Amino acid sequence: MEVTFKVYRYNPEVDEKPHYEKYTLDMSDDGVILDALNKIKWEIDGSLSYRRSCRHGICGSCAIKLNGKNVLACKTSIKEAVEMFGDTLVIEPLSKNKEKVIKDLVNDKKDFWDKNAKVKPYLIAEIDEHPKSENLIKPALVEMIEEADYCIACGCCYYACESVRANKDFLGPQALAKTYRFTADVRDEAKKERLELVDKLGIGIWDCVKCQACIEVCPKGVDPFTKITHLHNQVFEEGVAKRNVATKHAEGFVHSIKKHGILDEGMLVLYSEGVNVVRHMPEAMAMFMKGKIKLPWQMPKSEGLEEIQKLIEISQTHELKD
Ligand code: FES
Repeated sequence: MEVTFKVYRYNPEVDEKPHYEKYTLDMSDDGVILDALNKIKWEIDGSLSYRRSCRHGICGSCAIKLNGKNVLACKTSIKEAVEMFGDTLVIEPLSKNKEKVIKDLVNDKKDFWDKNAKVKPYLIAEIDEHPKSENLIKPALVEMIEEADYCIACGCCYYACESVRANKDFLGPQALAKTYRFTADVRDEAKKERLELVDKLGIGIWDCVKCQACIEVCPKGVDPFTKITHLHNQVFEEGVAKRNVATKHAEGFVHSIKKHGILDEGMLVLYSEGVNVVRHMPEAMAMFMKGKIKLPWQMPKSEGLEEIQKLIEISQTHELKD
């Protein structure tokens, strides 16, 4: 199968700006993208730089961008990529930010690793160094952490995350999924401390914009977005959630559903923002004119409201801390 690879090349030490090189290769049907990179490096141009190690989707080092999507080069079939994108495949580093490109496909991932380290991605517990038996936990509890445990810290989710792009302090999907890995582990003794960290505005769970790009690109099926949602619940359940615009938004949501069975968009903003709601008056007026928000007395009630209220009653677990 003949395939053209358009590869991002940039050596900041000699190049003024990045450029793309085209390599047309004869690849076998069962080849993966990493095979093509190896072929270029070993047979055509030894100066091409990229990371790889295990070749089995375990180490996470070969993560690259393929036609705009973050993938592991060693797990991505060339045949399937051609079926999806056509016979020219564009290979780029996870981040094309010139500050982050060390050379060609190799990124400086310091920001990613710093955030991973910040959430202490290891079990914190007083343990007997010479235990007489294994520390067993129930299968149902293992299931809760299993998915998050598959994370190989490749960075695919982190460099696809819109919130990370907009806010360099945001911990990002990988570090937050890793946090959940330990807050959901009954053996860990630092649950509260971990939750207090991720409850902070600017860096934590409340800055996720729910774009779900992390789910789409994760090569291991970790689903970081759902783990962030679990952390939302945990900060309330553990009484850690502080009163702020984000937690009040979550609380306002529940109030609205409890009262009407459906969302009262206008009251939700008023509840979350308080007096700051005046900042949103132009948008509110536009939404009102289009019938998207209603005045309190115009709000309809949902069918089965009593049933909805009962469900909220039995599932509610928290009070906000001031
Ligand atoms: S080389 Fe290790 S994950 Fe691809």
